[in-house]
Amino acid sequence: MSLFNIDQIKCKRDGICAAECPAKIIVQDDKKSFPSLIEDGEEFCINCGHCAAVCPYGALTLSTMPLSACPPIQKNILPDADALKQLLRARRSIREYKGKVVSRKLLAELIDTARYAPTASNAQQVQWTVFQNPEDVRKLAGMVVDFTKMILPVMTDVERAKRMQRLVDAWADGKDRVMRGAPHLIIVHCPADLPFTATDCAIALTYLELYAYSKGLGTCWAGYFTAAAGMHEPLIKALDLPAGHKCFGAVMVGYPKYSYHRIPLRNEPLITWR
Ligand SMILES: Cc1cc2nc3c(=O)[nH]c(=O)nc-3n(C[C@H](O)[C@H](O)[C@H](O)COP(=O)(O)O)c2cc1C
Repeated sequence: MSLFNIDQIKCKRDGICAAECPAKIIVQDDKKSFPSLIEDGEEFCINCGHCAAVCPYGALTLSTMPLSACPPIQKNILPDADALKQLLRARRSIREYKGKVVSRKLLAELIDTARYAPTASNAQQVQWTVFQNPEDVRKLAGMVVDFTKMILPVMTDVERAKRMQRLVDAWADGKDRVMRGAPHLIIVHCPADLPFTATDCAIALTYLELYAYSKGLGTCWAGYFTAAAGMHEPLIKALDLPAGHKCFGAVMVGYPKYSYHRIPLRNEPLITWR
């Protein structure tokens, strides 16, 4: 079966699909010929779908991606620049959560949206583990505290050790500064030995955080957890990731207890213009 099919009645031979193909496997010799695949083109296709998505006439159909499965972009509901800028600036890391749990449907919707984040070579290797049960999230927090207690005596960075000691002391005092009492934790993981997986995971979680905020949810990166996730044996066991996978990030998720009313200051960007 051919990688793509051109509807010769719909195709206007404008060359856009060939121009936009990132792997440059589609060619169109001149305005009279139809786009075609280079020899062995299948081998280099990254299945990004750009050729089909960019055609204004729906003339190109990929064998891997029927057009009927690729919804049209609803340009009328895209946020304008001001709305998007406000969202990006107003999102905050949330560290106080209501007791209310988030439905599995909504958690799934967050991930279903985040899977549209870019991935290097469109590899789409990011996988997700969702801890839905608040009790389990609390147990994971406890394991991070255990790990912190273990490494504290050998920590050479004095300032960092002081911060970690405060986290341990807070836990002893009944305060969870690891998961902040969030009811859920969403973890991203990938095969550890592929290039760019850490970046892919970080972008995916960033998409998820922003969409979660737009849905009235609160999130916060779980950095202490992520650091311990690849090192502490009981935690590695509890996560039970697929063989060869590494956790590259995690966010706490829940309904925020408080809402923010102002955008705090951030450093001016350090830019080198050349
Ligand atoms: C990689 C990463 C790890 C983080 N880990 C934690 C964490 O373990 N606990 C926490 O409370 N906040 C954590 N944060 C949140 C940052 O502290 C927060 O983004 C920063 O203070 C700025 O606040 P804002 O997100 O509200 O703009 C983390 C953020 C990132 C990007």
